Amino acid sequence: MEFVRLLLLFLHLLGMAILVGMFLLSRRAPAGAPLNVGWLHGAALQLVTGLAMQLLAPLTDQDYNQVKLGIKLLVLIAIGGLALTYVIRRVPAPNWLPPTLAGLVVVNVGLAVFWT
Ligand code: HEM
Repeated sequence: MEFVRLLLLFLHLLGMAILVGMFLLSRRAPAGAPLNVGWLHGAALQLVTGLAMQLLAPLTDQDYNQVKLGIKLLVLIAIGGLALTYVIRRVPAPNWLPPTLAGLVVVNVGLAVFWT
């Protein structure tokens, strides 16, 4: 079971890397480009792997801070909701959107690392 936990954490960290990569890509996107669908893929990976780690905690002998995970989930819902709204509408992504999404990702990294 320890391998499953580590595999999920591994994928969870790759999901974070996808979201950071999307922000870097957005810096090079032409003006008026729609939001990259990769934001949704990264957010979905974070949701699936994060929830799986949380739900498997009794089997992996982990004692996670449930309040922290609840707040991370809310932040991720904000990321996914914003991304879904703009990807579905296929309107040009406003300038404020990628930095806002990236800021929310940084909030979750901060919560993960500093709130034990
Ligand atoms: C943008 C969204 C997210 C980012 C960037 C993120 C980032 C991270 C990072 C960097 C870690 C590693 C922390 C460490 O090993 O010290 C981590 C661990 C973890 N994350 Fe996330 N996370 C996100 C969303 C979520 C969500 C929605 C959940 C579940 C509801 C979740 C559940 C967990 C769990 C269970 C761990 C392992 C234990 C812990 O450090 O609390 N994550 N996350």
